[in-house]
Amino acid sequence: MFNVDRFIAECRAALTDRTPELAIKELLERAVAHPADVESALGTPTEGHVAPLHHSPELTILKVIGTPGLAGYPHDHRMWAVIGVYGGREDNTFYRRAPEGLAVAGDRRLEGGDVAVLGQAVIHAVANPLRTFSGAIHVYGGDFFGMPRSDWDPETMQERPYDLERARRAFAAANERWRAECAAVGRPASA
Ligand SMILES: [Fe+2]
Repeated sequence: MFNVDRFIAECRAALTDRTPELAIKELLERAVAHPADVESALGTPTEGHVAPLHHSPELTILKVIGTPGLAGYPHDHRMWAVIGVYGGREDNTFYRRAPEGLAVAGDRRLEGGDVAVLGQAVIHAVANPLRTFSGAIHVYGGDFFGMPRSDWDPETMQERPYDLERARRAFAAANERWRAECAAVGRPASA
């Protein structure tokens, strides 16, 4: 069974590895191979949000629940990241810097059981295209909340300082839209 405290301890121990992101990739692969166990440990999603499971200067572990229809804007992390999906789908679009701001460089669809390692220079945007919540564990090799980094205006593709409040508002707006959509057809928003 997936145990959050044990997972955190194993990730912390992996930091002494020569390539911690690859050691953590193995840990996450083992975890999301049993997606139902992860969901029962972390709770069935009822709304989109980001919840820190662990936060220290050298390691951040987040539970990321994506609202149906959520479309995030491009951002970087400036530290390695390992992403494991245990429910629904996270569609990643990757970007490279270009004279006009950003250009699309690729994409990758992550579904239940999939794990991706992102290098520290990666710029990506994440969307949930499904009509169900996505559930993922994101592990970062540093202080995800304290690191000064960038996001990009999705209209103009111009770089700007990353703003956590803007990200929170994007989740809140997606939750609001999803609740309204569900109310309109008389289905529960948490289903
Ligand atoms: Fe990200």
